[in-house]
Amino acid sequence: MTLAIIGGSGFDQLPDFAIVERRKVSTPYGPPSAPLSLGKYCGSKVVFLPRHGGDHSIAPHGINYRANIYALKDAGVTEVIALAAVGGISPDFPARSIAIPHQIIDYTSAREHTFYDGGPASNSYVDDKVNHIDFTEPYDQSLRLRLIQAAQHAAIEVKDSGVYAVTQGPRLETAAEIDRMEKDGAEIVGMTAMPEAALARELDLRYASIALVANAAAGRGSQELTTATIDANLAATADDALAILEQFISRF
Ligand code: HPA
Repeated sequence: MTLAIIGGSGFDQLPDFAIVERRKVSTPYGPPSAPLSLGKYCGSKVVFLPRHGGDHSIAPHGINYRANIYALKDAGVTEVIALAAVGGISPDFPARSIAIPHQIIDYTSAREHTFYDGGPASNSYVDDKVNHIDFTEPYDQSLRLRLIQAAQHAAIEVKDSGVYAVTQGPRLETAAEIDRMEKDGAEIVGMTAMPEAALARELDLRYASIALVANAAAGRGSQELTTATIDANLAATADDALAILEQFISRF
């Protein structure tokens, strides 16, 4: 098993990660967000990729998700833990809490969202047929459970479920959009779980996420939504997310 960590907002670098090699790779879809960082984290081999680029310059809709997932597969990765900043729609997901989401509702548009686009195989990991992957459970159940156990061992409270609404961004939502998502059943909202999770499934990578609630979603809190507040809340939960990762890596 080789583990990859995809860093989201607030995690363009992984503290205490001993990088052995920075590997610049190319893929049939173009370059990934950054060179892959290969190294040791808590004594184990880990591949790290910052989703928004090493300097956080790539917006959610501009991320080359196919290149990122392909590059990880090509590096021999079998499991992916994705760190993700989200807004809380339900009061069960207050700012500065952490969730291990179990479901996704996709509201994104115009993203390159599949390796199976009907033509000849676009890479060596897929065949040339159209393939309808089973996505009933978008997150890998065994990986989710291990993350939840890791959080328990680290004595960090996490919500062990969450329906993640994925929006196109980069703007935040309107209050009415959040109302609609809540009616749909969404509990948290972010911009990057799709197509990342589906592409991982298409290439047979086990994928789960640690979602850091950075703010109350639009219309749900009393505070104005500013980047400064979001960043401050992410910084306040970063250590907890890292502690979960550390437990995960040392135990599993
Ligand atoms: N909406 C969408 N994405 C986000 C949010 C939000 O409120 N907070 C952090 N990422």
